[in-house]
Parts: sequence; C-alpha cells; structure tokens
Amino acid sequence: MALLRVLGALLAVLGAYYFYTKETFSEEMVRGKRVLVTGSSTGIGEQMAYEFARMGAHVIVTARREEQLRKVVQKCLDLGASSASYVVSDMKNLTSAQKVIEETKAALGGLDHLVLNHVGGGATFQHFKGEMESLISCLTVNFFSYVQLTVSALDMLKESRGSITVVSSMSGRIPSPFSIQYSAAKFALEGFYSSLRTELHLRKVDLPITVAVLGYIDTDTALKAVGGKINMQASPKGECAREIVKGTALRQREVFYPYWTTKPVLLLRDWMPELLELFISQAYLVENIP
Ligand SMILES: NC(=O)c1ccc[n+]([C@@H]2O[C@H](COP(=O)([O-])OP(=O)(O)OC[C@H]3O[C@@H](n4cnc5c(N)ncnc54)[C@H](OP(=O)(O)O)[C@@H]3O)[C@@H](O)[C@H]2O)c1
Ligand SMILES: *[C@@H]1O[C@H](CO)[C@@H](O)[C@H](O)[C@H]1NC(C)=O
Repeated sequence: MALLRVLGALLAVLGAYYFYTKETFSEEMVRGKRVLVTGSSTGIGEQMAYEFARMGAHVIVTARREEQLRKVVQKCLDLGASSASYVVSDMKNLTSAQKVIEETKAALGGLDHLVLNHVGGGATFQHFKGEMESLISCLTVNFFSYVQLTVSALDMLKESRGSITVVSSMSGRIPSPFSIQYSAAKFALEGFYSSLRTELHLRKVDLPITVAVLGYIDTDTALKAVGGKINMQASPKGECAREIVKGTALRQREVFYPYWTTKPVLLLRDWMPELLELFISQAYLVENIP
C-alpha cells in the first residue's frame, strides 16, 4: 500500500512537471520570423516553406532550379508569408553556399531559423561499387555545404538568438545498405551537429540545434528511388514538414517522424543489434536493386 502511494505521488509529480515545462506550439511563435529553408524547390523543403509562410514568416527558399523556386515563392506569398524570395545556388559549390547566406543577410537583415534540408550530389539507391568521386561529391552536397552554411550564418543566428534545424534520416543512425554514401553523409551530420550542440551549450551560447530523424516520406524523389525496392509504407510529406517546423519553433533537440517507425527502432539498435539487422534484411527486396 505504502509503495503504491509513493508510486502515485511520483507519477503526480512527473505529470505536473511534464505539464508545466512542456511549452505548447502556437503559430505566433513563427510570425515575423526570418527563415531560410534549403532544398526547398520540391519535397519536404517546399512543404516546410509553405508551413512557415502560412504562419506569417519571412521565407527565403533556395535550390538549383529557378523556375521551381519562383513558383514556390508565389505560393508562399499566397499563403500569407510576411515576405518571400529565392536564391539560386548549387550546394556542390561551397562559395555559392556562402553567398546564399550573404544574400539572406542583404534581404532580411538577419536570420532566425536556418533550416538545412537539401539532398543531392548523386546519392542513388544501388550497390556500393567503390566510386570515390561520387562519394566525395555526395559528402560535399550533403555534409560540407551544411557546415559551410552554418559557419557563415553563425554570427547572425547568435545575434537573433535563432536556431538551426538539420534534416537527418534513419540512415544517419542505423545501417543503410544500398545507400552507403548517403548514410555516411547523414552520420557525419549527426556527429557534427550533436557535438556542436553540446559545445555551444558548454560555452553558454544559446543556439539550439534541432535534428529531425525521418523515416520513409512520400516525396517524388524518394518514391522513385526506392519504390519497389523496399517493403515500407511512405508517410505524408506535408505532415512531416509540419512536425519539423513545430520542433524548430519549440527549439526541440530532436524530431522523430513518423515516431513509431523511427524511435523504437533506435532503442533496438543499442540493445539488440542482431534483431535490428534481421528487421533491416526483411525491409529490402534485394533482387530488385541494381
Ligand atoms: N523522402 C524521404 O523518404 C526521406 C527520408 C529520410 C530523410 N529525408 C531527408 O529529407 C530531406 C528532404 O528530402 P526530400 O525527399 O524532400 O528530397 P527532394 O524532394 O529530392 O528535394 C531535394 C531538394 O534539394 C535540392 N537540391 C538537390 N541537389 C542540390 C544541389 N546540388 N544544390 C542545391 N540544392 C539541391 C533540390 O532542388 P534542385 O533540384 O532544384 O536543386 C530539392 O529542392 C533530405 O535531407 C533527405 O535526406 C528524406
Ligand atoms: C562557385 O560559386 C561562385 C559564387 O557564386 C562562382 O563565382 C564560381 O564561379 C562557382 N564555381 C564553379 C566551379 O561553378
């Protein structure tokens, strides 16, 4: 009986703690904020731009395809963005990445949320055949350019007490056969940004970093790359974008989407790696992969 009472009291305290410390999301948090979303001509990045726009942020989108970007900017304005514009840039070129930040500063005078999301550099879904050049190109677009953008924006973000969001993947946390180069880039991001987060914290710099760990999302690129090659159901990109934007506004350390196909798997990773490997081996239709 005594034990039950203690347990009850403990639960009540935990419940109260959860209730009072958990900040709830409101669209007001985003209104008027200055946001740069990379890789926003299509896919999850495009959807995130629309989410920020709908809530009245100043939005800058960037990617390589100007025609696409122009359409995204128009839609952002229609949805209610405080302002919207685009910068054309190829993230394979780090000087060009740096210029995106300079143009952001020129356009908005500062930055509140840096949302790093682009993916490219010829990351394909196939056997690794040892191609060094494509590995280096993949790491340049999917890792080094993220770091370059961060380094260039750091002073602006400190000044605004802003935040950084990095879109990662389950491939940044567990083995990912047939996307070895992509996985290497995502693991690099996870190492860099989780270490940077802690380093900033220890130096008492208030600059939160949100890492979004995503499962399989129904963007055109993903469906085309892995459709028929893996045994999984894709989740909607719109809801995915909403969750990342929410996590960004709330300055959360991590976002898991979809939660139930990501978080539990990560618990297995450390405790039962053989079981995890078994699940992984059942998710791939190896005979369909080039
Ligand atoms: N979809 C999924 O299943 C999934 C799963 C886990 C994680 N993720 C992550 O979610 C993020 C978005 O993925 P997504 O599926 O939305 O991808 P996506 O639809 O292919 O969009 C990729 C974006 O990056 C841009 N991009 C590609 N190469 C570029 C380059 N060299 N320079 C500048 N921009 C470039 C593309 O625009 P341009 O072609 O116009 O340049 C596009 O806007 C990525 O970080 C990805 O790793 C996705
Ligand atoms: C890289 O970008 C810079 C700045 O936009 C540009 O001046 C330079 O020519 C680009 N380099 C290549 C190899 O495209």
